[in-house]
Amino acid sequence: MTTTLITGATRGLGLETARQLAGAGHTVYLGARDLKQGQEAAKPIGAHAIQLDVTDEESVQAAAKHVRAEAGTLDVLINNAGISGTWNPPAEITAADMESVYATNVFGLVRVTHAFLPLLDTSSNPVIVNVSSSGGSLTRCSDPTSLEATFPMVAYCSSKSAVNMITVQYANAFPQMRINAVHPGSIATDFNPRGTQSAEECAEFIVRMADAGTNGPTGPATPTGTFLEADGPVPW
Ligand SMILES: NC(=O)c1ccc[n+]([C@@H]2O[C@H](COP(=O)([O-])OP(=O)(O)OC[C@H]3O[C@@H](n4cnc5c(N)ncnc54)[C@H](OP(=O)(O)O)[C@@H]3O)[C@@H](O)[C@H]2O)c1
Repeated sequence: MTTTLITGATRGLGLETARQLAGAGHTVYLGARDLKQGQEAAKPIGAHAIQLDVTDEESVQAAAKHVRAEAGTLDVLINNAGISGTWNPPAEITAADMESVYATNVFGLVRVTHAFLPLLDTSSNPVIVNVSSSGGSLTRCSDPTSLEATFPMVAYCSSKSAVNMITVQYANAFPQMRINAVHPGSIATDFNPRGTQSAEECAEFIVRMADAGTNGPTGPATPTGTFLEADGPVPW
């Protein structure tokens, strides 16, 4: 039995990933800022709703305590919660805009990872999937021919670059874990109404990465500390 926690799983990619993993037999904790909304999302897919706001230390600590008491371990952590922040042009971006996006995408990811590392350490096959974005790729954003170079998103893109470096740092520190950053695709969700792919299709890749320690994209020896999309590596 694999126990999995997904942050930000009330809708979009997180909810669809929860649905697929619960269907595949994982015990899924579906993280929700609003517990009632989480319960409504979790019930039809056979997941367990858990109150979890990644920006709130008390909420994250309580969630870790809850999973420890109920499941005793955690095998897979999917750090999915993320916000885009403002699309204002760079000249208009303020420090407050940056702080707000980093609070969720960067500090929130570290808060959750820090709280759940001791539980992951009790797993025989611990996996962390950090949902990043190709918008965090310095290579793509500095290539004028790439789509990512057209995103006017100082806060969001740099927050995902930070997620990538955090992934590498954790992967170096915890070689017994499979810790990777992923670009899930261009998904039609509330976050990205212009997305071209379905949440179902993109969640399939997250599911493969969640199983990275056993039968992930490249088999049992799946590397750690990588940045991947469904087709292969994303340039840093
Ligand atoms: N959509 C894309 O094309 C795309 C592309 C690349 C990467 N991504 C990444 O994929 C991830 C999921 O995106 P999505 O498209 O599924 O977005 P979405 O539909 O907007 O869903 C975002 C989820 O994050 C939750 N969330 C926001 N702030 C939170 C917080 N402080 N604590 C806990 N949960 C919080 C939301 O919960 P509430 O319901 O409570 O608001 C919601 O469940 C994000 O990390 C995003 O950056 C998306």
